[in-house]
Amino acid sequence: MSQPTIANTIAELRALTAGWRKAGDTIGLVPTMGALHEGHVSLTRLMREKARRTIVSIFVNPTQFGPNEDFTRYPRTFQADCEKLAAAGVDAVFAPAPDEVYPDGFCTTISLAGPATAGLEDAFRPTHFAGVATVVTKLFTMVAPDAAIFGEKDFQQLAVIRRMARDLNLPVEILGAPTMREADGLAMSSRNVYLSPAERQAAPALNRAMRAAATVIRSGTAIAPALVEARAAIAAAGFVIDYLEVRDAGSLAPVEKPEERALRMLAAARLGKTRLIDNISLDD
Ligand code: PAF
Repeated sequence: MSQPTIANTIAELRALTAGWRKAGDTIGLVPTMGALHEGHVSLTRLMREKARRTIVSIFVNPTQFGPNEDFTRYPRTFQADCEKLAAAGVDAVFAPAPDEVYPDGFCTTISLAGPATAGLEDAFRPTHFAGVATVVTKLFTMVAPDAAIFGEKDFQQLAVIRRMARDLNLPVEILGAPTMREADGLAMSSRNVYLSPAERQAAPALNRAMRAAATVIRSGTAIAPALVEARAAIAAAGFVIDYLEVRDAGSLAPVEKPEERALRMLAAARLGKTRLIDNISLDD
């Protein structure tokens, strides 16, 4: 098992990628904030099929956390992450320090509308997507990948990045990958480690209620009453719901009734101090 090369600076990263490009190798980027789980590993597997070289970035991006969010306690497990990436056959890890990404005086951010202002995550985390879009653009500039992959678990994030890449003509192919789930349906997330044993037991109720609502909507029940029932089931399991909505899967615009277009059900809900998000297709 060979160890991935670790680059901590942009200069080290560029020296590495310049050699690969000279050899004619394509480069795939898997952006992460570390605390890697099987969902991240599945992204590296897909990327290894797509590109000759795979780089995983590990950077807990301060600008995408709000002032009362979990930036300082976000799990940081760099050694364990590197072991997983070595086993997955990843070529390199880019793990910059905050001041490498945000030099003194940094004051430029990406301004977004469209899916970034759909009234989902953005309604509860108003500065989040500007932080994500800015760091992702910077990672693209640093790595200059041919392709980059993002999990569908963060469905709105994926829509924002796809839109941004189109709007700014970023020369990188954006790939989405299916959400990986625990056996009981809970979407894998680095934040699941925050759950107490009792919360962990209750957590799959979110996905269960979403799947039940999707089934009744697919069989002809109107969206609104199906969501009312699902919200009640989610609340009964101990969650405080931020949102549970059905949206157009492409634009994330609201929809009143199922039509001839792809739909997505998206949710965010808090269990104790932990905020979980999930989404499922209504078209399967
Ligand atoms: O999805 C994540 O882990 C982060 O939002 C990302 C894309 C790595 C940007 O920091």
